[in-house]
Amino acid sequence: MKISLWRKHVLPFALLLGLLVAITLAGDYALHRFNLVWVGRYLGIPGTLLIIGSLVYSMRKRKYITAGDPKSLLQFHEFTAWLGSLMVLLHAGVHFNALLPWLATAAMAVNVVSGMVGKLLLDRSRRHVQGQREQFQLRGLSKPEVEQAVFWDAVTVEAMTQWRKVHIPIFIVFALLALGHILSIFLFWGWR
Ligand code: HEM
Repeated sequence: MKISLWRKHVLPFALLLGLLVAITLAGDYALHRFNLVWVGRYLGIPGTLLIIGSLVYSMRKRKYITAGDPKSLLQFHEFTAWLGSLMVLLHAGVHFNALLPWLATAAMAVNVVSGMVGKLLLDRSRRHVQGQREQFQLRGLSKPEVEQAVFWDAVTVEAMTQWRKVHIPIFIVFALLALGHILSIFLFWGWR
């Protein structure tokens, strides 16, 4: 039986993303409900530190540092970036005063999603489509027939490849916007 790409790969991805959204909403509700909005304000700092910590993997990958097992560092990258983003989302809360930090948050969201696409969907989905192709070939289908059979799954994988390419450019946008927000906060700290 053909297990669809959707159920096997897209669903776990949607669940992990849904978890991020659900914890953000529930956490934001709790912070407001128990008058702890100030905690959320401070969560910006550990959130940012976690995201900066997650870059150890990027430095290892580009050989700026040579110590550390790349595979464990990748897991560390995924975990700290996810948790840091969650903290920053709680930090952003539902307050709308300034545009810059919201642009930074939007860029961060695209960043997290693109990372999760790369991690949870792309490689496994590629293998899934390749496996399907091989199965159809074994059953004796001609090449055009095989391509037709895997057409929509292949299109989905192609779309994900585009997402993956966004990960680093959008990170740079995110970092600049976040830096602008953080600098302006520290420049005007205590002035209001
Ligand atoms: C060292 C790290 C950070 C510090 C110290 C910090 C500090 C603050 C403070 C004090 C506020 C309240 C500003 C106000 O009431 O007008 C704020 C709001 C906010 N911050 Fe941060 N922040 C940090 C990191 C981040 C990052 C990385 C993002 C997004 C990617 C972010 C997104 C936001 C958003 C969306 C708001 C709400 C803005 C609004 O009220 O319209 N922050 N931050």
